[in-house]
Amino acid sequence: MKDVGFIGWRGMVGSVLINRMMKKRDFDNINAIFFTTSQYGKSIPFTDLKNKNMKLQDAYNFEILSQLDIIITCQGSNYTNKIYYKLRKIGWKGYWIDAASILRTLKNTIIVLDPVNFKLIEQKLNMGIKTFVGGNCTVSLMLMTLAGLFYNNLIEWIFVSTYQAASGAGAKFMQELVFQMKYIYKSISHLINDSSTNILDIEKKISNKMNSTNFPKNNFKVPLINSLIPWIDKKMDNGQTKEEWKGQFETNKILNANKIIPVDGICVRIATLRSHSQSFTIKLKKNLSINNIENIINSHNKWVKIISNDFNSTINYLTPSFVSGKLDLPIGRIKKLNIDKNCFSMFSVGDQLLWGAAEPLRRMLKLLI
Ligand code: HSE
Repeated sequence: MKDVGFIGWRGMVGSVLINRMMKKRDFDNINAIFFTTSQYGKSIPFTDLKNKNMKLQDAYNFEILSQLDIIITCQGSNYTNKIYYKLRKIGWKGYWIDAASILRTLKNTIIVLDPVNFKLIEQKLNMGIKTFVGGNCTVSLMLMTLAGLFYNNLIEWIFVSTYQAASGAGAKFMQELVFQMKYIYKSISHLINDSSTNILDIEKKISNKMNSTNFPKNNFKVPLINSLIPWIDKKMDNGQTKEEWKGQFETNKILNANKIIPVDGICVRIATLRSHSQSFTIKLKKNLSINNIENIINSHNKWVKIISNDFNSTINYLTPSFVSGKLDLPIGRIKKLNIDKNCFSMFSVGDQLLWGAAEPLRRMLKLLI
């Protein structure tokens, strides 16, 4: 059995990964070794694993790391930066699977999303590539939903507006959003059940609270609750944010496209806890009927679910609250646009911790095993 080291398994993506692996009984087929950056020597907390008495190992111990066949890390870019290059330098030839973004731009790495780029993964494995990285969440979710159109070479360009959940920024941001909810609620709870209170007075109170100095916003810098933030990640030279820049770069790297397919958009943080939504404007290379478009999208993979373009279906099945915790990838609001006969719109939602992060890594590990 292969020795597989797990690093960063306690964090958000890591724990979603471990849960999925337990559910699918993936641990039956590997010898799992759990690492920690701070608590080595303690016992692993999973009572239902066969090697449950195992101790946590030091994630900075090169001697132990270099004996592993596979390392899978959700610890983040800082850890990868500190360990990966040094480990390769001392001659470690194992497989490195990473959730962090830092290695995605390197030439000898593959961004993994096997339902979309299995052939590329297989080809690069045969060529001896040993570093595999999960893609950006919105990019992976977009490709899972649009792969049918990409593979039929139908896409001229894509413009996307995202609606990204707080958890995409990390656990402490997610926690801060909940604190913001609590802060607001506490300040108006005595008013909301009183039908004589004017709703605009409540709105004014909330606004005042959001602007008060004690409002919890260390991480987001501004209120996210009752608001939104149309900026994710750092500024690039061309006016995009890094999150927007990843759209084109990663899409084309995953697809191994000969000719760059233009992808651009505006990425927005919204006050949801989990699951990212995306609104697309897509220009096709030809004028296809809605039926045709839906059939092509639907036939690519079993997770895509076409949601009929009506009120009830949309509000029930095309929302973060419906999708969170599921692998389903609903796509709806598919309609032709007045602006061009080859353009159509589409809205999709996906759990960014599953298909957007943990699931492609779990599947890559399975492929290696
Ligand atoms: N960059 C994403 C976000 C996280 O901020 O929502 C998923 O890769």
